[in-house]
Amino acid sequence: MIRIKKFTALLLGAFLLLTGCKEQSLSDISIYENKADSILKLMTLDEKIGQVSLFTSDWSTTGPSMRKDYIDLIKQGKAGNIFNAYTVDYVRELQRFAVEETRLHIPLLFGYDVIHGHRTIFPIPLGQASSWDTAAIEKAERIAATEATAEGLNWTFAPMVDLARDPRWGRVMEGAGEDTWLAGLIAAARVRGFQGLDLSDKRSVLACVKHFAAYGAPQGGRDYHTVDMSERSLYEWYLPPYKAAVDAGVASVMTSFNEIAGVPSTSNKWLLTDLLRNDWKFKGFIVTDYSSINELINHGVARDLSEAASISINAGVDMDMQGSAFISQLSDLVKSGKVTEETLDNAVKRILIAKYKLGLFDDPYKNCDKKRETEEIMTPEFLAFAREFVAKSCVLLKNENKILPVPENIRSIAVIGPLADSKPDMLGFWSAAGQWEKCVSLLEGIRNRVGGSVNILTAKGCNVNDENTEGIDQAVSLARRSDYVILALGESSMMSGEASSRTDISLPGVQLRLAEAIIKTGKPVAVVLFNGRPLAIPELDKLAPAILETWFGGTQAGNGIADVLFGDVNPSGKLTMTFPRNAGQVPIFYNSKNTGRPINPQNPYEKYKSNYLDSPNTPLYPFGYGLSYTSFKYSGITLNKTEFQKDDQIIVSVEITNTGDRDGEEIVQLYVRDLVGDVTRPVKELKGFRKVMIEKGNTVNVAFTISPADLSYYHKDMSFTFDPGEFELFIGPNSSEGNSVSFLLL
Ligand code: GLC
Repeated sequence: MIRIKKFTALLLGAFLLLTGCKEQSLSDISIYENKADSILKLMTLDEKIGQVSLFTSDWSTTGPSMRKDYIDLIKQGKAGNIFNAYTVDYVRELQRFAVEETRLHIPLLFGYDVIHGHRTIFPIPLGQASSWDTAAIEKAERIAATEATAEGLNWTFAPMVDLARDPRWGRVMEGAGEDTWLAGLIAAARVRGFQGLDLSDKRSVLACVKHFAAYGAPQGGRDYHTVDMSERSLYEWYLPPYKAAVDAGVASVMTSFNEIAGVPSTSNKWLLTDLLRNDWKFKGFIVTDYSSINELINHGVARDLSEAASISINAGVDMDMQGSAFISQLSDLVKSGKVTEETLDNAVKRILIAKYKLGLFDDPYKNCDKKRETEEIMTPEFLAFAREFVAKSCVLLKNENKILPVPENIRSIAVIGPLADSKPDMLGFWSAAGQWEKCVSLLEGIRNRVGGSVNILTAKGCNVNDENTEGIDQAVSLARRSDYVILALGESSMMSGEASSRTDISLPGVQLRLAEAIIKTGKPVAVVLFNGRPLAIPELDKLAPAILETWFGGTQAGNGIADVLFGDVNPSGKLTMTFPRNAGQVPIFYNSKNTGRPINPQNPYEKYKSNYLDSPNTPLYPFGYGLSYTSFKYSGITLNKTEFQKDDQIIVSVEITNTGDRDGEEIVQLYVRDLVGDVTRPVKELKGFRKVMIEKGNTVNVAFTISPADLSYYHKDMSFTFDPGEFELFIGPNSSEGNSVSFLLL
């Protein structure tokens, strides 16, 4: 370590003497550029190519290909960055190869998919988003970064902010759902949580917003499939969450596998240079997704790997993840002039600056602290917060006759279903270094809560996803012997996530038959749903008296769910993604267009309207929907005036009364509709929300202030501005209910 410090000081001193630079303030970005330049000047072509290459260790597999020689590559200076390697001992070992066995001692970046926790696993991101609690989301990322850095990591491939309106796509579990504005708030919160206020802080990691761009809109909801949309849709719906992450200072961006309108993102110069760097002023570095340079050949825009490497780095890519495209092709490309050395130097410099910002040149072993690894992982405080977050992420979808919370005088409970006691499934996809053995299953959570006073029976009843019905009878007889049934249904955690699209998004296997048989016993039944995507469950919705959506809650899943089931926590979550009645409705989302033939709600099947012969247009559960154990009454809306000048503030308020018998939080939502625009406008757009605690019997006043600029949109000529005209404003408990008022913008 001493040697590296002296080395850097020598380098810097030499550079400053040569160039006569004055010592600059540390906070000045140019100090990093000067340092990077000072090393760049010493680097050979091969050493530069090593810095723009990223390889996975063989500790976990997150893609289709693997090389085993990554340690040799490090020692040869051909791998300047590693992912999927962690723990202090392993990181120290690999970092030592780079720092002590290469000529220039440049430290490695250590990346990993810390998507919803590192060791303490939190609910999947789509579940976290259902809390609408950006402070909690930020706190979860801070804990994740603390644990990740305690195990040697300094870079996470998160946040994933891909807007998603198609639940057939398995990676909806990884994002924030269908609303652009909410997804942007959450993206910024995640970047703040990961990066903190200073990247050199020992608990901060580089964040990496992904997958740039529009990966969440594949045709047919089929992963990696073609994305084709208008420029307006791209700008209006899909780009803002990435921009929010860039504006929050995200250190890196990951290109997406997909094309957009014929141009794969990994070779899209307009996307990576014109838009991201020049328009958005992004100063960090751009890494590809896993071997996505190589995939340009499959896309049909590159004849061979040499051309693929050339068009990607010339489009703006700085780092090749796992493709070996750069280490095998760039030397010849630079020598032939197809890639200028300046292009390569700029890529190397952006990566070196990131390493400087992390403080790795001052202390390459900064994240190799055995004490932190022992004391700052899965602490009681982290686990307590994880349990709270599980409860906050739950969404109560149905609760007839107050079946929930479970009554206190219950003497026996049957916990039935294929997910009743599955610890591995609680983690969800992308669970990083999470350990399923440390997860609390639903059954364990119920035992922890009432095991001492209630007789708990359990049976699987059936499997998640096969046709075996042999266990149903035994489960039914168990239900008959109990006072209350908790039915744990849904998907396995590997049925969503990457490369996990489904054409049929209904309840898999024979679970519906199990539910029918159990509910037919006449016992009080509450369904607990485990899933990574909206499911089309209209039959279950008809049958079950109560349904609690719990996603995949992570390490503390069972305890957090039990807190809700037994009423210690009043559920307050609201969906951030529409639940369709069937896959045929997809894509279905709340902020859709009115069309020229909107249906007549009084006669939804009227001919020659935009509807179906075999399904309503309405979803099963709309965006923003979620119930509580209490009830809320919304008063009429008060506007400060009904006509506004363009520099006025629109102040709107509503009174909300808790009309139930217990305190509860309500996520009050504000939507706006622009009745006439330069182009067609959505029937509703979320423009604000407040999560308010309202004590039973109390009434609170909730106010919002929006400015006319908040009503801006992309016009025909793609100018982003607002118009005078008539608007409708809605305030309510979800995107389908609530009161409305109109106002005029002059
Ligand atoms: C995967 C994913 C990406 C992830 C990367 C590294 O293919 O698309 O989200 O960060 O590879 O694991």
